[in-house]
Amino acid sequence: MNVLKHKFAEQRYPASPTINFDAVTCAFASNEGGGKTYTAIRDVTLTVNDGEFLSIVGPTGCGKSTLLNVAAGLMRPSSGHISIFGKELQGGLNRDASYLFQADALMPWKNAEDNVAAGLIFHGTPKAEALEVARDWLVRVGLDGHGHKYPHQMSGGMRKRAGLAQALALNPRILLMDEPFSALDIQTRQLMENELLQLWAADRKSVMFVTHDLEEAIALSDRVVVLSAGPATRPIAEFDIDLDRPREVADIRMTQRFLQLHAAIWDVLKGEVLKSYARTRS
Ligand SMILES: Nc1ncnc2c1ncn2[C@@H]1O[C@H](COP(=O)(O)OP(=O)(O)OP(=O)(O)O)[C@@H](O)[C@H]1O
Ligand SMILES: [Mg+2]
Repeated sequence: MNVLKHKFAEQRYPASPTINFDAVTCAFASNEGGGKTYTAIRDVTLTVNDGEFLSIVGPTGCGKSTLLNVAAGLMRPSSGHISIFGKELQGGLNRDASYLFQADALMPWKNAEDNVAAGLIFHGTPKAEALEVARDWLVRVGLDGHGHKYPHQMSGGMRKRAGLAQALALNPRILLMDEPFSALDIQTRQLMENELLQLWAADRKSVMFVTHDLEEAIALSDRVVVLSAGPATRPIAEFDIDLDRPREVADIRMTQRFLQLHAAIWDVLKGEVLKSYARTRS
């Protein structure tokens, strides 16, 4: 039985990249009207590999969320192709992925437990079983005993933990994360980053993580991709992060290698941030 299952898993997930952007371009109707378009990203070719923690950094407004939306299947490229485990999305949702948005996505009328269970119930898990899984995940993200609380009764950090439990309870093969911790204070943020790394290390999902914070990107990732300033954004550099794991994010920032990597990546990113700043002021 186990062997059969294993074979099934191999068939379902062949040895292709987890996410493959192939010359993806996304253009929107321009604010100027008159049928003009604004090309947010152009010819983006990028892969996320199986079990990899990949971070995307780039100036504000350059197209990071657009890339995640394409990977989630929420947005169809104007041209190019997006494939998940070797299969083109072709306008459908990426059902192998959970998406953690920058803003809280908890339902205010449901308590933490029901929020986490909701996705499972939607996918057909019987309610009692879904609630059991939800309780288990709330414990794992540090919310033991808080399952009865509604979003307005939780702190920002607790809501983020509940959101993480909600995403992970679905046991996705892929996690898409859009600046999930940017609204948190630095201490809570570092706690959450460490917890995310521990949860990720347990079964190595493929993660595509978007952040403004270069230090966060380096501390968490296997690879950091730098995007150019918009319009027509594309990846302009990528860096392998060869820091040992397991990592403690506050400590790793003090190491010599971290500082070297930071200097090298910032050298590229800084130019794009300055270009972006100049364009928004002109
Ligand atoms: N639906 C849309 N219609 C028109 N323009 C859009 C749309 N979505 C995004 N854009 C534009 O595309 C560009 C990229 O947007 P996106 O949200 O991907 O940037 P971002 O890098 O995530 O920004 P931030 O760092 O501020 O979150 C921006 O200029 C934005 O105004
Ligand atoms: Mg964004």
